[in-house]
Amino acid sequence: MSRPVTWRKDDGLAVVTIDNPPVNALSMAVRQGLLDVFRQIRDDPATHAVALLCAGRTFVAGADIREFSEGDPVAVDPNGIFDLIEHLGKPVLATIHGTALGGGFELALASHYRIALANARVGLPEITLGLVPGAGGTQRSVRLMGVRPALELMLSGTPIAAPEAMKKGLIDEIVEGDLLAAAKAFFSRLPAGGEATRRASERPIGDAETALADIESARQELLGKSRAPLAAARIVDCVSAAVSQSFAQGLEFERHQFLASVRSPESAALRHIFFAEREAARIPGLPEGVQKHPVAKVGVIGAGTMGGGIAMNFINVGIPVVLIDMGQEALDRGLGIIRRNYETTLAKGKLTREQLDARMALLTGALQYGDVADCDLVIEAVFENMSIKKEVLGKLGGLCKPDAIIATNTSSLDVDELALATGRPQDVLGMHFFSPANVMRLLEVVRGRQTSPAALATVMALAKRIGKVAVVSGVCYGFIGNRMLEGYLREAELLLMEGATPAQVDQALEAFGMAMGPHRMMDLAGVDVGAKVLIERGKAGGLPADPAYRSVIQTLHQLGRNGQKAGVGYYRYEGRKAVSDPVVDDICAGLAARYGIARRSDIAAGEIVRRCLYPLINEGAKTLEEGIAYRASDIDVVWTSGYGFPARLGGPMHQADVIGLAAILEGMAVFARRYGNQYGYWEPAALLQKLAASGQRFADY
Ligand code: CAA
Repeated sequence: MSRPVTWRKDDGLAVVTIDNPPVNALSMAVRQGLLDVFRQIRDDPATHAVALLCAGRTFVAGADIREFSEGDPVAVDPNGIFDLIEHLGKPVLATIHGTALGGGFELALASHYRIALANARVGLPEITLGLVPGAGGTQRSVRLMGVRPALELMLSGTPIAAPEAMKKGLIDEIVEGDLLAAAKAFFSRLPAGGEATRRASERPIGDAETALADIESARQELLGKSRAPLAAARIVDCVSAAVSQSFAQGLEFERHQFLASVRSPESAALRHIFFAEREAARIPGLPEGVQKHPVAKVGVIGAGTMGGGIAMNFINVGIPVVLIDMGQEALDRGLGIIRRNYETTLAKGKLTREQLDARMALLTGALQYGDVADCDLVIEAVFENMSIKKEVLGKLGGLCKPDAIIATNTSSLDVDELALATGRPQDVLGMHFFSPANVMRLLEVVRGRQTSPAALATVMALAKRIGKVAVVSGVCYGFIGNRMLEGYLREAELLLMEGATPAQVDQALEAFGMAMGPHRMMDLAGVDVGAKVLIERGKAGGLPADPAYRSVIQTLHQLGRNGQKAGVGYYRYEGRKAVSDPVVDDICAGLAARYGIARRSDIAAGEIVRRCLYPLINEGAKTLEEGIAYRASDIDVVWTSGYGFPARLGGPMHQADVIGLAAILEGMAVFARRYGNQYGYWEPAALLQKLAASGQRFADY
């Protein structure tokens, strides 16, 4: 295997190149290579300066995250290498293109100088993986940019553009063109013998009083955030060490915190999600080298909230969209909402007027379906009703150009049946966007029985282009996410009839980490929307014979308590604030009496979480054994990116592995004994039983 770090002499300049595709991660081999190469350069009298470059698409994008699970992340200690670089006795210049992140940016910070292309980005995103920067990042960033900006950089984890980094003192120059030529030009301007080996580690930290005040205010802010990652407090502690201790002591403290964070369950879960999101893009059974279609223009049918949100995804990345609605008024309203959304972003300073105008210029409204005839992808987002959707798709089948992909945005209907309505089912798949479609990251891509590999591959690639995390689901009721949601909501409602209040259930699940409890979620999504889906499913014979099944939502709907938009639902609303409403408790008590459900007052938070979580896991296991989901990790991505499941718990299937499958089976058996299992609610999935019996985890499946 070729060496990932090499160097050559170029007229007294040592040119070091890191070449470790795809992202030049600072793997053990790269660390060893850097150590060897910099020792050689140190001892070479013929070189007097060093330019550090990276091959391929990016500068070093961080430590090799895989090593955190598989190996020793500090074997060949990066701090030892960075110390060697800082004390090389020859100026070292990091030349940055692409992204310099985490350990990669720490390498650049340990270099004496940094230049970057204007479109490069730099940052310390470790917190997003539940980690503390582990190679001097917390100590050097503070010395270069000051306490408050360094805390902002590390606690947000968001990379910043090179020009902004330059303003903040992290980059010395923005350059253009060839980086080696720029490095030579940079060195030619360096005063001989002047600041030849300027070291970030030796820079003084500004006024100590201000620094300590900034640290204290960061601590206070964290205290107010119940969902702050645990790594956040560790990062603040490291910054505090930077201010109050020597560089060497601070580095030692940081190392300790870094190793503790690597071992934390939070980081294991977040790393799992990092790789799960990327793995989801790999589709089993697709032929090698399948040709993707170019997508230069998109049509969206239906200018409602969903259609409008879908359209925004494409115009945001420069793809023209034709938005169709049947009536001028509906179309104008839809176009107006899109413009208002952008105006709001503009007002927040996150979009310029020019960008807004450019995006709106990519959007055309039309009243005739024929206007999508030249689109490469057409997505229908009309009312969730089989016969309406079939009619629309039938028209599209005849109108769309050959090879155009036709997608349905259904959240529950049979995509195979819908596909047949087009007369060209090979071109059809489901694109299940989540509301608000321009904000939510998840896209379930529903692979029909006849969906062509090209259509599937095209849409998966397009999803990445519009910034979505896409997960493939097979065809079944509710696909992966909504299908699993059923059991979760069933238990949430049964708990209400047993005597818990909506707030009690929501609080327990929010304390567990869900972004929103189930009842607040239903109120926001619309009780009517949920009830109608249920009614349709009942008509199709898809509900259990249990008369109490989801009877709370149906009753609320009958009473016109349709959620936040109606001012009443599971809660009463004062503006957007949900307030407990005793009327709902009375409704639930009435339903309990009607269906013979025993009321009790001993429902604890732990029971609420287990009652709702175990059906989720069990149904997840069923989608896996049926091949609806390809991998347990895909299910985790669906739930963390679309349903507010906390990423720091890694998704329901990862959590199941953490809890232990045998313990879950045991818990389900207890619930079956205690609450009865007449309708099979606590019947374990065969896969769950099989894995538990052989001591395996979902991750092994
Ligand atoms: N370690 C190992 N593999 C990595 C990696 C890393 N740090 N970063 C990316 N990869 C892999 C991905 O898994 C993916 O592999 P596959 O193709 O096999 O799926 C491949 O590189 C390409 O990654 P993306 O699909 O994400 O490519 P992209 O162009 O969309 O994004 C990126 C590139 C911005 C660098 C993005 O990959 C990213 O954000 N990476 C993580 C950066 C990060 O968090 N760095 C900090 C690491 S922790 C650390 O450094 C600790 C420390 O202080 C020492």
